[in-house]
Amino acid sequence: MTLQFTLNGELRHVEAVSPTTTVLDYLRETAELTGTKEGCAEGDCGACTIVLAENVEGQPDYKAVNACLLMVAQLDGKHVLTVEGLATSDALLDPVQDAMVKTDGTQCGFCTPGIIMSLFALRQAGEQPSDGLIHDTLAGNLCRCTGYRPIVEAAREACAAKPDGAALDILEATSEYTDGAQSFLAPQTIDALAEVFADHPEANLLGGGTDLGILVSKEREALETVIHTGHVAELLEIDETETDITFGAAVTYSSALPFIERLFPSFATLITRIGSVQIRNVGTIGGNIGNASPIGDTPPCLIALDATLILYSKAGERELLIEEFFLDYRKTDLKAGEFIKAIRIPKLNATQEFRAYKISKRYDQDISAVIGAYRLELDSETVTAARIAYGGMAATPKRSLACEAALIGKTWNIETARSASGVIGKDYQPISDHRASAQYRLQVAGNLFQRLYQDISGLDQALEVVAV
Ligand SMILES: Cc1cc2nc3c(=O)[nH]c(=O)nc-3n(C[C@H](O)[C@H](O)[C@H](O)COP(=O)(O)OP(=O)(O)OC[C@H]3O[C@@H](n4cnc5c(N)ncnc54)[C@H](O)[C@@H]3O)c2cc1C
Ligand code: FES
Ligand code: FES
Repeated sequence: MTLQFTLNGELRHVEAVSPTTTVLDYLRETAELTGTKEGCAEGDCGACTIVLAENVEGQPDYKAVNACLLMVAQLDGKHVLTVEGLATSDALLDPVQDAMVKTDGTQCGFCTPGIIMSLFALRQAGEQPSDGLIHDTLAGNLCRCTGYRPIVEAAREACAAKPDGAALDILEATSEYTDGAQSFLAPQTIDALAEVFADHPEANLLGGGTDLGILVSKEREALETVIHTGHVAELLEIDETETDITFGAAVTYSSALPFIERLFPSFATLITRIGSVQIRNVGTIGGNIGNASPIGDTPPCLIALDATLILYSKAGERELLIEEFFLDYRKTDLKAGEFIKAIRIPKLNATQEFRAYKISKRYDQDISAVIGAYRLELDSETVTAARIAYGGMAATPKRSLACEAALIGKTWNIETARSASGVIGKDYQPISDHRASAQYRLQVAGNLFQRLYQDISGLDQALEVVAV
C-alpha cells in the first residue's frame, strides 16, 4: 500500500520510502523543498515548522507542527503545506510573508520559514489574536537575531487578512504501509488496534511522536514496527457527563485544552506550558502517561484529580486508578498487547479546589524540575480531604500521603500550609540532576504550599508568571 497526501496542493503517492523517515528529511532530501530548515532536530527551535491541514466538521483546520519529529507515514491522508507553498508568485506573497517584509521581521532568515508557517496557521483562525495568543504561537519558534517586536507586529498585521477557508479534499489513509523490514500500521478501530498490537506486542505504539520521534530524529533508530493510534476513532473521542470528562488516549493537548480550561483552569495553564503549540498540536495525553516519565507534566495532575485509566487489549477492557499505573522508573502496569484507551477525570464539586504548579527554568518550552498538583476539599475553614501529588520528586509521579495527613482535619491557614511543607521529606527523596538539585526540589516542593495557600485564599493575584 502507498501513502498519500498533498504537498503544497499537489497529490503525492509515496512508496519505497522508510515509514519512519522524518518529514523534515523527506521534504529536504526527497521532495527537494529546502525552505524548511533543520535547527535542533528535537522539537525545540521551530525552524522546521510546517502546517498540516484537514477538514474538521467540514471546515479546514490548520495546525503548525515540527517536521523534525514527525514520521512521513504520519502524513498519510493529510494536506501538507511548507513555506514554498504559500506565495503564488514573487509578486503575490501570503499576507504573513508580506507583513514580515514590511515590518523587517527577518535578518539572517534561518528562523523565518518556520515563523511564517506558525503565523500562517494562526492567520487561518480568522481572528485578531490577543498578545497572549501571539506569544503562545511564537513560543516554539526561536529567533536569535531579529528580536520579536517586528515579528509580533507582523502577526498582528497578517491576521487582519481573511483566512483561506476553502474546504479540503478528504484523503483516504492506509492501515498498513511497509518498506523492507519496516511496517507502519494505522488501524482505524479499537478492536483492529488490539488485534495488531496482540500480533506485534514488541511494536512501538505511536501517538503524536513528540517523545518517540526523538528516537528517529536524534538517535536515528530504524524502528521495525510502529502502530499509530492517531486514526483510531474511539481513541479520539471526548465524552463529558455531569460527573466526569473522558479523553481518548489519542486526543491531542490542543483538542483537550478548551475542555480543561473550563473545568480545571490551573491544569490548563500548566498544559499551555507543555512544549510549544507545535508540540501540543500532535502530542497526546495518552503519550504523556504511556511515556511514564517521572517529570511528565500531566500524571501528577491526573493523580491529584483521582483520574482512572481505561486500558484495552484483545482480552478486553479494564480500569485502573492512574496512581496505581506507575510501578517504577518508566515501568507501568500495562500488559503485553495492552494500551491506554482513555483517561476519565472526575469533575470538581463545589467544595473542591484544584491547583497545579510547574517549576522549570524557563516559562515556555522547558521540562519541569518539579510539578506539584493539589486537590483540596474545604468545609468552611476546615480541610476535609486532600489529594496531593508531585512529579520530579521520585522515580515515578506519586502522592504525598504525609502532606495530605498534615492537612486533613486542620483549619486552612498559613500555619497548616507550613506544617505540610515541613513533612514533604517523609514522602520523597529526590535526585540531583542537571535540572535541579535534590535540596532545591525538596525546598521548592514545600514552598509551593505557601503559594497554594495564598492562591486558594485569594491573597495574591500576582503569583503566575505573566506572558509579555
Ligand atoms: C520540544 C519538546 C517539549 C516537550 N515539553 C514537555 C513538557 O513541557 N512537559 C511534558 O510532560 N512533556 C513534554 N514533552 C514530551 C512529550 O511532548 C509529551 O510526553 C507528550 O504528551 C507525548 O505524547 P505523544 O503522543 O507525542 O507520545 P508518543 O511520542 O507518540 O509516545 C510516547 C510514549 O507513550 C506510548 N504511548 C503512546 N500512546 C499510548 C497509548 N494509547 N497507550 C499506551 N502507551 C502509549 C508510546 O509507545 C511511547 O512510549 C516535550 C517534548 C518535546 C519534543
Ligand atoms: S529542527 Fe528544531 S524544532 Fe525541528
Ligand atoms: S532572523 Fe536570524 S534567527 Fe531569526
